[in-house]
Amino acid sequence: MAIASIDLAAQQRRIKPAIDAAIAAVMAHGGYVMGPEVREFEARLAEFGHAKRALSCGNGTDAIALPLMAWGIGPGDAVFCPSFTFAATPEVIPWTGATPVFVDVLPDTYNLDPAKLEAAIAATLAEGKLAPKAIIAVDLFGQPADYPKIAEIARRHGLKLIADSAQGFGCTLHGQHPIH
Ligand SMILES: Cc1ncc(COP(=O)(O)O)c(C=O)c1O
Repeated sequence: MAIASIDLAAQQRRIKPAIDAAIAAVMAHGGYVMGPEVREFEARLAEFGHAKRALSCGNGTDAIALPLMAWGIGPGDAVFCPSFTFAATPEVIPWTGATPVFVDVLPDTYNLDPAKLEAAIAATLAEGKLAPKAIIAVDLFGQPADYPKIAEIARRHGLKLIADSAQGFGCTLHGQHPIH
């Protein structure tokens, strides 16, 4: 018997009545863009993630690209990211014209190694070709990155920090939601 590694149709069958009802409700009131469901989604996401606010967008890839664009990151800038992650994490960096600088990961969590991050920032500064601007940390396989150490490095070097939590949204570190 063949067993599909990802069977979306089977997943959908479990939740189909709720999806169908939600789609029918949106069709009935006609507020397709930024309607009441979006507001409710954002409010519930913020509550779940212990965040002051949540802003929704089309997908996880856009969610990483949008802050880079908002901060004006572009050609000549270095954005540090883990060497082991889903393709979307580094993919968005060249969209802005900036250059990804890959940083090795820890052997136990597969997440960004803070010591290697520090070394990569120092090497980039010493080389003098790119201006360090931002770090994208990733919560791979649901495990949070080491935000206390990574955020301290970001603060000390004046770098922006993005938490790519596409795989770990809602994860906790020492009993707390890691990013506030
Ligand atoms: C770590 C990580 N970042 C970003 C993304 C991109 O999310 P999306 O597929 O919603 O664009 C994914 C998707 O699997 C991911 O695993």
